[in-house]
Formats: sequence, C-alpha cells, structure tokens
Amino acid sequence: MKPTLRIGRRQFMLAADEVYLNAGTFSALPRAVFQALVRELAAAESNPTRIAAENSRAPLWAVQQVIAAYVGAEPCDILFRENVTQALNLALFALPWEKGGELLVTDHEYGAIVNAAREMARRRALSIRVLRLPRDPGNEDDLCAAVLQALGPRTTGVLLSHVMTATGLVMPVARIARALRRRGVRLIVDGAHGPGLVPLRLAATEIDVYGGNLHKWFMGPKGTGFLYVNRRLHKLMEPIVVGWGGTPRDRHAPVDPVQGYTERFQYVFRMQGLRDFAPFLALQATLDFRRQHGEARIMRRVQELGAYARQKLAGELGLECLSPRAGLQAGLLAFRPPPAWRRPDASERLFRKRRITVPFWHEPARGFLMRVSPHVWNDESDIDRLAQGLRAKP
Ligand SMILES: Cc1ncc(COP(=O)(O)O)c(C=O)c1O
Repeated sequence: MKPTLRIGRRQFMLAADEVYLNAGTFSALPRAVFQALVRELAAAESNPTRIAAENSRAPLWAVQQVIAAYVGAEPCDILFRENVTQALNLALFALPWEKGGELLVTDHEYGAIVNAAREMARRRALSIRVLRLPRDPGNEDDLCAAVLQALGPRTTGVLLSHVMTATGLVMPVARIARALRRRGVRLIVDGAHGPGLVPLRLAATEIDVYGGNLHKWFMGPKGTGFLYVNRRLHKLMEPIVVGWGGTPRDRHAPVDPVQGYTERFQYVFRMQGLRDFAPFLALQATLDFRRQHGEARIMRRVQELGAYARQKLAGELGLECLSPRAGLQAGLLAFRPPPAWRRPDASERLFRKRRITVPFWHEPARGFLMRVSPHVWNDESDIDRLAQGLRAKP
C-alpha cells in the first residue's frame, strides 16, 4: 500500500545506517528545528543579557501562546517545563490535598510519575491505591468503568496516562474527567505521549491537570514540556520553587499583557530563575514543520506504521501483541519478544548486531516486553528489518 505521507529521512539527522524505532523515548528532531535551535542559541550568545535573558519575557510568551493554541488551552493556563516529570511533580506538590484522602493510579503508569505520586502521598498523609485496568478492553466504556468502579469513599484524585507508556492504550480522558468532576474527584493526566500523537483540546475538557511532553511525538527540542492547570485550581496552588513571582500571597507587579502577566498564576509559576530558553523558542519551528506536512497526515502516518508493525510482528512473525486493538491504541506497541530475545541485554544486542533502536524490558506482572514506536522518519522497511533481526539469534 502506498504510504499516506513520506517525509524523507534526510529531513532528520539520524545515523544513515541505523533504524530508530523509539519515538516513545525521544523523538528525532527535524533538521529544520535543529537549525532553528542553533540559531536561537547563537543569537543568545551574541548578547546574553539583551537576548538570552530577555527571551524569558515577550518571546517566550509568544511561543507559549502558539503552543497553548496547539493543545487547545488558554496560554494563561499553561506553564513551560522541561519535561513531564517536572510538570507533574509541580502539580502534585503545589496542590493542596485533603489529609486522609486517597489517590488512585492505574497499573500501567510510568515508574517515575508513580514515585512522585507516592512521595507526595507520603508527605501529605494520603494513601495511594493501584487500580487494575482491563487486560483486553473492548471499548472506551470498559476503561471508564474500570476507573469509576475503583473509586472509594476517600478517593480525592486519580492519576492516569493519556497514552500508556508500554502499550499505547489511549484512555478516554475527557469522558473520565467529566465523570470524576461530578463526583468531586480530581483528574491528573500524565500526557507524556499525548501532544503530537493525538489531537488535544484541553480547555474543552474537565481535566484538572495535564502534563505534556513536546520532545516525544510532537518533535520538539529535547527539554521541552508543559503543564496545563484548569483555571479553577490556580488559586489553590502554592509554588515549590519561589522566584521573582513570589507566592500567591504577595503583591505583584502591574499587569503586563505583552509578557502575558495578566494573572497571578503566571507570575508565581512561570519565571523561576534564568535558564536556557532556546529549546522553547525553537518550538515554533516544530509547529511550522508539522503544518508544512499536515497535522492530521502526520498523526495518520504514525497510525499506519503502527498497523504495519502489528501485521508484520504479530501477524507474520507470530509475536504476541500486548497492545489493545487499533481503535484504542496510538503510537506505541508492546510485543512479547521471541523466547531467545527474552534477556536483559536484548536492546543492546539488537543495536550492536543490527543497528536497530528498540527498548526491551522486564516487568514482574507482564514479563518481557519489546516496545516499538515508529514515527514519520520511519518507513515500512525499518519494521521489516526489525522482523528480520528478531528471526535471527540475539
Ligand atoms: C507515560 C510516561 N510518563 C512520563 C514519562 C517521563 O517523561 P520525561 O522523562 O520526559 O519527564 C514517560 C517517558 O517515557 C512516559 O512514558
């Protein structure tokens, strides 16, 4: 079948003799975005005070506005952070939680975020409970039901991923948010794999908190992510890093719409010291790249490559696919590797022998997994090469 979109590999900087099938960890950066990033870095070094420091003001706000529009939120409701780990730590620790309450997390969550939730719960005297998602959900109703049926009388919050890290299971977060709001329970979404993979309209949902990465599927520079906080929670948040913006109790400088300082939330949480703002400024180049190739076409092509991987690795090679059916999955696909490849050094061996980057790992509950996450720089022959590699001995 003819691919619906071809973006030549030369538009990326990946090593010519390698196959990179791991957008789920870090995206490859389009060459044009890399060049924009280098331009930003060079400009900043031409006068670190006038340019690098000033970048934290109007230029950063201008990018914040376009990224907010991309994720369907008001710019005042998002904050740039370097990654989802930082974004969600901020939300978890800055929000007040009722002592004695309970936080639910699913059994599919990413370890670092579960660690953050556990530590917050320990410090705030909350309990934490793991809810089991169905192994083979038939539809979105099954996923909603699993979350709602797990709620207990003390549940004050639910933390779950929008797209699950291993299997690519897509949670119906908007529906879950609506149901939780009616019950007075907060929804915190780990959106590490959301932006760039599935369309987002955050302000149209009742999601309370959404942490998103821009350095995975979106194809932004490394070290770019954001936090979205529903407006109704802004006033409740106490900063964990206090900078020039002070705390919500302090008086603030006058409103400055050019920099987007129209409300306290932005004063308190945005500017927390100088750092490198170039990766954020280069996000505009990622948006340009995506527009040039077509947002919907990029997302469709990723799904098409996923469908091919499923057919090749499960259909032809006979591997067990641990991801849900296509309609409930995006981007990432988990497979049980062939028996010979169920070993701790499988990723390393695949790379050394075949120059293919695909992560393998072991989990107590699910055993050995192999995760394939192709993106627009890949084509079907990359997946054929993976299948060929797996047919051979490690
Ligand atoms: C579901 C999920 N959450 C959070 C993260 C952490 O992302 P980062 O290291 O960019 O904070 C990942 C990383 O792969 C992930 O898959």
